[in-house]
Amino acid sequence: MRTKIISAVVLGLGISSAAVADTEAMMQAAGAELFNKCTACHTTDTSKNAFGPSLVGVVGREAASLPRFAYSDALKNSGITWTEENLRKWIAGNDQFVPGTRMRHVEITDKAEQDYLLAYLKSLK
Ligand code: HEC
Repeated sequence: MRTKIISAVVLGLGISSAAVADTEAMMQAAGAELFNKCTACHTTDTSKNAFGPSLVGVVGREAASLPRFAYSDALKNSGITWTEENLRKWIAGNDQFVPGTRMRHVEITDKAEQDYLLAYLKSLK
């Protein structure tokens, strides 16, 4: 019984110190790793679009608003602004959120992974 309580306390401490270490920088690093799922099509170069539009400055941007990128009508007509909430929905299932999008299906539903990716996307300025 006593060991159970002690290990519960130790476990609790472990979790809280991990949470403290979860700084913005660490989240961005984890997000950069996850962004490997996106780099096949997206650049982090402000001026270049690849198979997908550049994601530099995407947080807060209107959807389908970059010049020189041939967006789908679905995204152009979506009326979406890329708030954090909308980006979460997009990466959790872009083709459910915007049916008819040209972007291949992605599915990142884990809340922590979404947090990391968002922290990374926010850092792209
Ligand atoms: C297979 C290529 C591909 C992959 C992989 C991909 N995307 Fe895309 N992405 C696209 C294309 C193409 C569009 C434009 C979609 C349209 O016009 O309907 C797009 C659009 C977007 C947009 C909207 C940008 C804007 O200017 O409105 C965001 C945000 C986005 N992608 C994020 C991501 C993230 C985050 C990942 C990785 C988890 C990812 N994408 C993976 C091809 C891809």
